[in-house]
Amino acid sequence: MTKKILSEHRKAFGEFEALDFVDEKEVAQLRSKLDIDVPLDLHWTWEYGSEVEELRNLYERGKKGQWNAETDIDWSQPFPRDEWFMPREGALLMPSLLTAMGADEDTCRRAAFDEFAHLLSQLLHGEQAAMQLCGQLTNACPTMDAKFYAGSQVIDEVRHVEVLSKFLQRKMGTLYPIDPTLKVLLDMLLEAPTWKIKTLGMQTLFEGMAVGIFDTIAKATTNPLLKDIIRRVQIDESRHAAFGILSMRQVVKESSTEELQEMEDFAFSILEALNANQQLDMLRLHGPKYGLDPENVVHSMLAMPEWPAINSEIFMHTVMPNLKRLGLITERTEHKYRERGILFGDMTTHRDTLSITN
Ligand SMILES: [Fe+2]
Ligand SMILES: [Fe+2]
Repeated sequence: MTKKILSEHRKAFGEFEALDFVDEKEVAQLRSKLDIDVPLDLHWTWEYGSEVEELRNLYERGKKGQWNAETDIDWSQPFPRDEWFMPREGALLMPSLLTAMGADEDTCRRAAFDEFAHLLSQLLHGEQAAMQLCGQLTNACPTMDAKFYAGSQVIDEVRHVEVLSKFLQRKMGTLYPIDPTLKVLLDMLLEAPTWKIKTLGMQTLFEGMAVGIFDTIAKATTNPLLKDIIRRVQIDESRHAAFGILSMRQVVKESSTEELQEMEDFAFSILEALNANQQLDMLRLHGPKYGLDPENVVHSMLAMPEWPAINSEIFMHTVMPNLKRLGLITERTEHKYRERGILFGDMTTHRDTLSITN
């Protein structure tokens, strides 16, 4: 059984065990850790023909889907600070709470701007990790098809780093440092010893989460520039998640029961830790500016009867159905996902995320 991640940072909120970083020095230390020791098995192959047709097709689709973050985006479109770019309620946490508390519109809009800049900064740091990890996969993957795809994904991720950092710098005028929980989890994936675990961690778990988050933003935003950027990124991300699924299907087929259990536990421990933070990293930084006490916010969210339904939405979008189809959620872990509000309702009602539509 995999050890709980960051067990020394756990704090009980009633039944729920949250993950909270309160020591700013420690957070700064985590952020300044720039050198990561990565074991990497480089693998040659002399088979240049295609062995996995679906992967080669995905690579072809990726080539056709290329776009230029500088010239294909109309950067002259504005992103005004004094206009709503998301619905005031329901999309972001702080403006929803502040609205319910009776705060004025300007305060709610400023909170939405801060929270969104924070979220986009975290996505940007995640893109950098994806770029680094795909470079590793290009070395370590066994087949030429997988090397072709991972190599092509590197340039997709470079473009995502480019477009998100340009949007933050040019349009939002700010870029927040990486959240400590995210830094620890991304380092775990980058340090993972085998290409199988790296593929599961980055391509299935993080890409699956990214598809859910980007799709939610693209649907919710009313700003044309942001919508265009996020839609483009999201189309690339669903291709990446498909790569994860295609590779993982093969891995699962070839794995022993013991290896499958290890993968199932690994997936649970990463998603559990991601969920355990409950936006405390964001709230510690921005909540006090708006009179929001991070711990009170988390207490009241967890007390809401509809919390599991709301909390699970982003997980249920792509990552949970994909894990289920891969056979990496069984009765060993399903109840644990449910207890933590990650899995909710019936997964068969969700769309078929394995179909590759773009
Ligand atoms: Fe990406
Ligand atoms: Fe990606």
